[in-house]
Formats: sequence, structure tokens, C-alpha cells
Amino acid sequence: MTVQPDPALRAKELRELIDQHNYSYYVLDEPTVPDAEYDRLFNELRALEETNPDIVTPDSPTQRVGGMASSAFAPVRHDVPMLSLGNAFADDDMRDFDRRIRRALDLPEGNLLGEGSNVAYCCEPKLDGLAISLLYENGVLTRGATRGDGTTGEDITANVRTVRNIPLKLRGNDWPAVLEVRGEVYMTKAGFERLNESARETGGKTFANPRNAAAGSLRQLDASITAQRPLEFCCYGIGRFEGELPDNQVGILHRLRGWGLLISRELQLVEGIDACLDYYRDIGERRASLPYEIDGVVFKVNDLGWQRELGFRAREPRWAIAHKFPASEEMTELLDVEFQVGRTGAVTPVARLKPVQVAGVTVSNATLHNMDEVQRLGLMIGDTVIIRRAGDVIPQVMQVITDMRPADARPIQVPEQCPVCGSAVERTQLIKRGRGRQTVAEGAVYRCVGRLACKAQLKQAIIHFVSRRALDIDGLGDKIVEQLIEREMIASPADLYALTYEQVITLEGFAEVSTNNLLLAIQQSKQVSLARFIYALGIPDVGEETAKLLARALGSLERISQARAEVLQFLPDIGAEAAHEITAFFEDEHNQTVIRQLLERGVQLQEEGALAPEFAASVSLGSFIARLEIPSVANTSAQRLADRFGSLTAIIEADWLDLKQVERLNERAISSLRDYFADEQQRQRVLDIEQQLRDFGMHWESPRASSSELPLSGQTWVLTGTLEAFSRDVAKEHLEGLGAKVAGSVSAKTHCVVAGPGAGSKLARAEQLGVTVMDEAGLLALLAEHGIRP
Ligand code: IVH
Repeated sequence: MTVQPDPALRAKELRELIDQHNYSYYVLDEPTVPDAEYDRLFNELRALEETNPDIVTPDSPTQRVGGMASSAFAPVRHDVPMLSLGNAFADDDMRDFDRRIRRALDLPEGNLLGEGSNVAYCCEPKLDGLAISLLYENGVLTRGATRGDGTTGEDITANVRTVRNIPLKLRGNDWPAVLEVRGEVYMTKAGFERLNESARETGGKTFANPRNAAAGSLRQLDASITAQRPLEFCCYGIGRFEGELPDNQVGILHRLRGWGLLISRELQLVEGIDACLDYYRDIGERRASLPYEIDGVVFKVNDLGWQRELGFRAREPRWAIAHKFPASEEMTELLDVEFQVGRTGAVTPVARLKPVQVAGVTVSNATLHNMDEVQRLGLMIGDTVIIRRAGDVIPQVMQVITDMRPADARPIQVPEQCPVCGSAVERTQLIKRGRGRQTVAEGAVYRCVGRLACKAQLKQAIIHFVSRRALDIDGLGDKIVEQLIEREMIASPADLYALTYEQVITLEGFAEVSTNNLLLAIQQSKQVSLARFIYALGIPDVGEETAKLLARALGSLERISQARAEVLQFLPDIGAEAAHEITAFFEDEHNQTVIRQLLERGVQLQEEGALAPEFAASVSLGSFIARLEIPSVANTSAQRLADRFGSLTAIIEADWLDLKQVERLNERAISSLRDYFADEQQRQRVLDIEQQLRDFGMHWESPRASSSELPLSGQTWVLTGTLEAFSRDVAKEHLEGLGAKVAGSVSAKTHCVVAGPGAGSKLARAEQLGVTVMDEAGLLALLAEHGIRP
């Protein structure tokens, strides 16, 4: 018999390891283990905590993905006000700042040799995000707050807990008993681009710049949304504290770093104003290549005694200043608009601009996204425009200055033929269902219909297929892909797996070793997870997240490729458009051939498995009937029908008398329903959907007909207080799925009350009535017993 280690001890060990790796990764920027190993530790801890809910600690790294903020954000008073900074733009403003300080401190002026008493300044970039305050009590994060007006901010504890590099617990043990840390929450340029990219893919809201994206992400009432956003935190100071700290700015920052908080990698201590100006210029030159947006640099007198002596003027400290960079917006002329063909055939307008310097970089192209954007801007060729380097990556046209439009300005027209392959360019259509009918609207995107026969699309499709997050074939750069296509060695992703040594060695720059390496990398890519494979296919509207969702929920390529659009729409986050794209992709014969060839040539999908249990039982018959939009049968009637009959077949087979039995279903609705299903095609479509659900192993959630067999049938439950692992709504759904009724108030008939932190009168009443009370861990354990994991 093997000795099982004590789960609590192992969990503690895992938490320490994970915290250590987090620190190395986020603060030291020196990852100590590969991602896979980190994931393994994390998963082990999560599994351990799931089976032993009583060992979960609030500061466990698994406890980040929070639920709802308790209400709208509660106000938080800042005992030490959160100040703003004075600005300087010119070097002379900076010299004035330094002079004021030395005068106030009574330090001698420097002589011509620059000798004198130099003030030591702490220098950091001015991050373009949002200021927040983090309160650590006995080393544990107890509160996060926005700056607000500097005196009163908002409580965003649930949200800040989801930011990966904010420690929930400080490292070491020499921290002050109370420590308020201040710093900036921001989004990296790459994170921002990714977020906007996926928002564009799914038709979601895009953000104008990383700052807005960070602000919008942090102030989410549902912290699980914040958790999905690529936010980071960097600290630059402290507020209230009770305990010992060094008496200088840089010293404090180094202590914070030791306790696990990220401080700026660009932090420097310099002496004198000239060194400050050098620092400003150095950062300015590197601004574009920094991974985050900054709008200047901040200088602070390093000595805390001097800071106290200098004090404040209005709401600005006399001991600190922001030296700002010139704006990242400029004006220029739109010379022409060219059309580029992307991976999915989208023909996208690209602005050719008269070259202009924006924040230190020459800009001559800007993206215009799509024709709707061109229309929204009211753009014409020849216009003077304002461009902005949003995220400092891809410049964007922000605005047209119509007053400056020349007489010979020309409208922008989409070419009728693909500029690369000459195939027709068609406007995409948006399919909308409404009132039981299908309507077609014009989409914003134009597409070349040539697909893989179009070399532009083929090239992008291959580049995407081999990219790091897809099949991850090392050494297949853009230039090589181009050559392979030009020499007609490949005409689809499947052809990569038929490349021979004799072919590859003829490519430019290839010799024996490089040829073998590339062929090996191609071989190694054959073992691929289902999610990566789906992502690699490059289905329009299917980004990495959607691919993961499809893989996790449906579990097999077979099911994903067979799924009807209506069934796909049962998945969270898959709308009508994406569902249509996915089915259209798999219905396409050419795509079927490529997929078949990929599998025949040895690509093996890993992690294929069963349908996710939570998905199997998550499809609601009521909402499905409502979605059919049968006249006179709206949400409530649909729900009643679902409750009464439990299956579509039963509803279709129901006669007039059966339907009469449904509570408050009027005659109009009944005849409308019967008319709807009298249509043979309609009936068949609906039955096919139900059949597919059954084939997939799915069932309509908790039909009333059989609810008496469910484990919590006949029980009434009440949820109160805050839950950490999921929102109350989700907890309610799970309980209802097990047959319980979830009520809003406690009575003697209540079977059980689940009380999270902050529970008030309901908990008191439960205790008064002697009703069973359980905490969230208890609920998790109960759900886990029935195979439900939040
Ligand atoms: S110090 C009294 N340091 O700039 C000190 N602020 O205009 C006040 N900011 O609200 C802040 N990077 O959001 C400081 N390294 C840095 C900063 C920084 C960005 C922001 C912060 C603050 C605003 C002041």
C-alpha cells in the first residue's frame, strides 16, 4: 500500500511552489519552469482542493477567478489621499522643478562645473493605466480600491484579486502589519491587441487604447470578466502603513519587490537634473519597444525626509513631477487606400499615408479594419486625417478633418476582383433570425471567394496553421511559406505533411541540417490537442478561446464537425454568426478533404474525449423553444411547455387537449404551435436537432416530468452572501439542475441555506429557525459529488 500524503500538506507545498514560480515569472521576469510544469502544479492543486474543499484557503492561487462584486462598488476612503502629479513638457520646466526643490531644501546652487548638491531622484516610466490601492493586512490582500477623486475610491477587491501578478499574500514575513501599496493597473500592448482582435472576431466591443481597455476591464461588476482580461499591476509607492520601512523611495520599492510585487524594470536612482533629462531621453527612445504604453516619466525626490519637508501644493506633491512625452496623435494625408487579402479571404482596406513621425516612429500605413469603418470615418482619398498609434503597434486613423478636404478627393471603392488572384470579391451577409423568419443583412466584410486557390489566403492560412498557438511548427517562417507556395510545393496545410527531403533542400538557405530540422518539426507537430487543431483550421469567428470551448464542450472532432448550428448555439459565447461559420466550414467539401488528408498523413488529435458533463445537462428546452420564435409563444409559455412535456417530441405529439392542460397557454398560442409543427420541414428540423443532442449524449436540463428522481427534488434552497467560486446565478442553476427549488427568502420549509461572507438577515433567520446552513465549501463538495465543478 502506498502512503497517501496529507492533502493539506501537499496543498501547502503546491501553493508555495506556485507562488515561487509566479514571483520568478512576474516580478523577476525569469521563468523557472516551463508553462506545462506550472500548469501541472496548478491543476494538481485545483484537483486536490476540489476533492478536499475544507483545505481551500482564501489566498490559494486557485482562488483568483472571483464571482460577483458584492454590489455596485462600495466607496472606500483613502486615509492617505491619492494625489496627482504636476506636468512638465520642456526641459526648462524640469530645470525649474529641480531649482524649486533645491531652494526649498536650502541646498547650494551648483557651480559652472555642475558641482553642487545634487538631489537624488527616483525615476520610473509613467504607465498609462489606472491608479489603484491595495491593502495588505498581516501580509494578506484584504482590499483593492480605485483612486476615484483621490479621497474616495471604489472597492474593487474581487476584481484586483483576478490580476495574475497581484500577490494575494505577500512573500516573506518582514512586512509591516498594515501596508497599502499603490501602483498602476495596465494592459500590455500585446494583451490589448489580442483582446481587440478577439472582440473584432466575435463582433464584441473594441477599445480605443490599452488605458481604456484596462479601465473597462477593472470596473466590471462581474469579476470573472476581469479575470479573462490581460491586466498587469506595477507598483510605484505606498500609502498607509503600520510598521518599519526604509526612509527612501527606491529602498521602499525594493522591499515591495522582495514581498512579491512588481516594480518597474526601468526603475533608476539618479543624481541631479541632467541625469533626469538623460533618463527621459533614453526612455523616450525606447518607448515604442516597451511592452506597455507610457505617456512620460515620473521623477520623485528619493529621500523621504525631504519629501515630508517639501510637502504638497494643492493636490500635487512638490517632490514629484511627470515629464510628459509628446502626444501619440499626428495629422497627415491619406495618399491612397489599398486592399489586402487576409487568411479568411477578408479584403481589408489599408491606408497609405504621407509618412509622419508619431511618438518617435515614422508611420506610413494604418489599418482601416473594414468598409464600415471607412464609412463611419467618412473617409476619402486625399483627406487630411488624424492618426494615432494605439497600443503603439498598428497605427489607426482616428478622424477626418473634413474642412481640409481637397476638391479632388476621391471616394474609396472596394475592388470587384481580388487584387491577388482575380476571383470575385463578395460582400459577406449576416444571417439574422427573427419572428421565425430568416433575414439577410449586408455585413461589413468583403471576401475574395478564391479561398486556398488564392495565394494570399493560402499563405495566411498556412502561417496561421503553423503558428505557435496552433500546430506550432518551429522554423516555418513567412518567407519559407511564401517559397513553398510560389514553387507549388504546397496547396493546403495538409501538403506540409507530404513535403520531402528532396523538396525542402532546394529551398533558399536550406542545407542538410536545416532541412532535417524542419522535417522533424513537421513530424513533431502531428501530436496536437483538439483545441489547437480546431484553432489552426482558421475557421472565421473561431479564435483560440472559441476553439478551446468547442473542444472542451463537444470533446471530439467528429461531434464538432457534425454539430448543427442550432446545437452549437447552446454553447456559451457562440452566437448565430459563429455557429453559421463553423457549420459552413465543415460542410465545405474542400475543407473536408483537407481535414481528411491531415488525419491520413498522420496528424493525431490528443485529448479527444467525452462530452463535458456540465454541457451535457446545460441545454434548456425552454430557451430553445423560445428561440424558435413561434408566434404567440414567448419566453414564459415556452418555459411552461418545457416544464410540462420535457422533450420536443412530446410537445410535437401533444394534441389539443394535452396542450390545454398547460397553465395559462391560450388558444392563440396553441394553434400557433400546432401550425408551426404541422409544417413537415419545420418539424423535421426540430426533431433532427433533438436527435443530435441525444446522439451527442446531451439531455434537456431538469425536465419536470422526471424531476422527482433528481437528488434534491422537493427541496427548497436559499443562497445568501458572496460566493467565491461562482456567481449566485450559476450556483442557482447548478442547484436547480439537481432538482432543488431556489428561493429568495428563508422559511421553516427551507431545506438548506448556503451562506457566503457578508450574509446577513437570511443567515440569522435560518439560525433562528434551525434550518441547515452550509458554507461555499460545503456547496462545492455537494456539487462535486454530483459531478458538477464550477
Ligand atoms: S506617482 C504622489 N508614479 O500618474 C504620487 N504615478 O498623474 C502620485 N502614474 O494617478 C503618483 N506611473 O495613475 C506615480 N511611476 C508612477 C506612475 C504614476 C503612472 C499615474 C498614476 C497617477 C497619475 C498622476
